[in-house]
Amino acid sequence: MYRVAYLEPGHISTDSKPKCSDQLSIRPIFIISSIIKDSVFSNLLLSHLIWEKEDEQIVADIMRRRFFPAVLTHKAWEGFHFAGHEIKITEATDSYGAVVWPSALVLCYFLETNSKQYNLVDKNVIEIGAGTGLVSIVASLLGACVTATDLPELLGNLQHNVLQNTKLKCKHQPCAKELSWGVDLEKNFPRSSCHFDYIMAADVVYHHPFLDELLLTFDHLCQNDTVILWAMKFRLEKENQFVDRFQTLFDLEIIFDFPSLNITLYKAMRKGRMQSDTPNGLSEEEIPKDGSFSCL
Ligand SMILES: C[S@@+](CC[C@H](N)C(=O)[O-])C[C@H]1O[C@@H](n2cnc3c(N)ncnc32)[C@H](O)[C@@H]1O
Repeated sequence: MYRVAYLEPGHISTDSKPKCSDQLSIRPIFIISSIIKDSVFSNLLLSHLIWEKEDEQIVADIMRRRFFPAVLTHKAWEGFHFAGHEIKITEATDSYGAVVWPSALVLCYFLETNSKQYNLVDKNVIEIGAGTGLVSIVASLLGACVTATDLPELLGNLQHNVLQNTKLKCKHQPCAKELSWGVDLEKNFPRSSCHFDYIMAADVVYHHPFLDELLLTFDHLCQNDTVILWAMKFRLEKENQFVDRFQTLFDLEIIFDFPSLNITLYKAMRKGRMQSDTPNGLSEEEIPKDGSFSCL
């Protein structure tokens, strides 16, 4: 995520922004230190700059994916452009889970723009706290076999959105299923038969009383080769505490970070399973060739 540049004083200029391969521009944010240690370096001021990804440009790009009805209709909806499709999401204002949250957009954008490295074709994906289902829809359009989950009262709207936006457009038809965090996990999602390549979650940590149950759910669903993609909006100290607790079970890596939105996208795996060369942490040799990574 972050790149470090060591520049001589004359070269410290925002005009000299390096271009990075992932097409994200970066900018210096602060000078860590200027160290003159001994005579060897006495004529040379080494300024250590940390470059942080400039998020404005990419955040603007993410937000441009959203569109709204041109005229007022009896039904509230929002539109999005992802994975080459126009996606219309029916919303309501009476529930947290009935509107699209910005973390979901960030995760969708990541999935679309990193579809080579994180190839979802035939991958088994579960989304928890799916809300309106945007992330599940985009993952399905990108070829995954998706189970979108949420509380029972959200399932009607979730199912409607998922069906409306994926019918006859996807390799695998996604399904919507109840998953109340921490409740009947082994009964409804037995570890012996439910293998997920990815667990996806957007904005599931906020001021609610089910953080223990949420962690339990991640723990139950995550097997040794499962990758968690978790987009998180930071609002209060509680969120930081949850990240600390999360890290007692999982290794965490920041793969996208937007300070202007206070949103971070994490990749996580069970402790000791993360390798950075492949999305699922396995080396090429370890990846099963027998199709056991494909949909159930
Ligand atoms: C802030 S919304 C985010 C919705 C969606 N992921 C998005 O980013 O647009 C949080 C979601 O978590 C779900 N949720 C909250 N508590 C839950 C629980 N105990 N079990 C399952 N889902 C829960 C809500 O119903 C809601 O859909």
